[in-house]
Amino acid sequence: MYIDALRLKDFRNYAAEDAVFFEGLNIFKGSNASGKTNLLEAVYVCGVGKSLRTNQDKEMVRWDVPEASVKLTLVKKYGKHDIEIFIDSKGKKRVLIDGIAQVRMAELLGYLNIVFFSPDELKLIKEGPSERRRFMDISLCQQSRLYLKSLSAYNKALTQRNKILKTAYNAETVRNMLDVFDVQLAKYGAPIIEIRKRFVANISQTAAEWHSKISGGTESLSIAYESPIADDGLTAREITDVLIRKYAKDRERDTETQFTNSGPHRDDLKVIVNGVDIRKFGSQGQQRSAALSLKLAEIESFRIETGETPVLLLDDVLSELDLARQKNLLDATKGIQTILTCTHFDIGTDVGYREYIVTEGKIVGQTDIYKE
Ligand SMILES: Nc1ncnc2c1ncn2[C@@H]1O[C@H](COP(=O)(O)OP(=O)(O)O)[C@@H](O)[C@H]1O
Ligand SMILES: [Mg+2]
Repeated sequence: MYIDALRLKDFRNYAAEDAVFFEGLNIFKGSNASGKTNLLEAVYVCGVGKSLRTNQDKEMVRWDVPEASVKLTLVKKYGKHDIEIFIDSKGKKRVLIDGIAQVRMAELLGYLNIVFFSPDELKLIKEGPSERRRFMDISLCQQSRLYLKSLSAYNKALTQRNKILKTAYNAETVRNMLDVFDVQLAKYGAPIIEIRKRFVANISQTAAEWHSKISGGTESLSIAYESPIADDGLTAREITDVLIRKYAKDRERDTETQFTNSGPHRDDLKVIVNGVDIRKFGSQGQQRSAALSLKLAEIESFRIETGETPVLLLDDVLSELDLARQKNLLDATKGIQTILTCTHFDIGTDVGYREYIVTEGKIVGQTDIYKE
């Protein structure tokens, strides 16, 4: 898929700006604080339904105006779609798909598929498990309605179960309520685990190939879904049963700690390079290469699951890489609509691209660079 046109109105530091994108590589060049990341954020919000850097949606509205909007036209294999998002100064969002107002923002997911990468994504490897679950969740909510629904129902049930564990009802009432929530958690948790395992299976080979390429063949990457209940080859039904038993087994401990100790909300993604767990023991270089490899491999999982190639957003990543890696990365973007931001661009690449100049919330120039 690719984005054809983008229109920003009172979004961050953009008053009113239009861009028509190239199907391939789009490079937004500009000095610091000119509005490059803001532009990627506008695209991101149309795909994922939220900001890539804040939970406070109102921050995306230009200062001192009542409402921001982003509109884009998306071209997919089987037709075009218009996506339009409005954010008011209280942070309330509305979405229109093909001109029709949607009751829920979640209806948006699955139209525009986004893979986003920035130097900050190093945290994907080196921070705690929640970052890696977030990686899987953001990707999979875009790929699967079942996943989206299961995750939201699971989180709701989990919050309620934890609340019960914290409340001093009489023992029998608690037991009865926990019985109900264990069944719910297992029912919604099973597809989450099953789909995450499929995701890991979809990306592991490609991630390993990228990592090997990026490291010049010196490192081998392997990843695995890490969960006490993730024995491979179980059906969703079997995972449900295992989960119910697990919640029952942990109940005493859960009552003591006052929260739910196991389940997909505690699982992780194991990242091993040359036999070493780089979540804890990796060098920065290894962690950076692995994060980039996982992101590039994520593209593959969209292709497998949806039959479409997502749009790739690369925020300021070139400055972090040496020239050989920069070239490898640009090569990797062939056949993928890519929107890349940078302060300068001087790579002798054989990839054609459209270059835009950004200054103070305005796109002031546009040039097409054709290559063989
Ligand atoms: N809601 C907002 N309204 C107006 N300007 C904003 C808003 N949010 C951020 N900005 C401005 O946007 C600029 C940062 O843009 P950004 O896209 O992060 O820059 P960069 O080009 O370095 O990626 C800063 O000058 C900041 O003051
Ligand atoms: Mg930036």
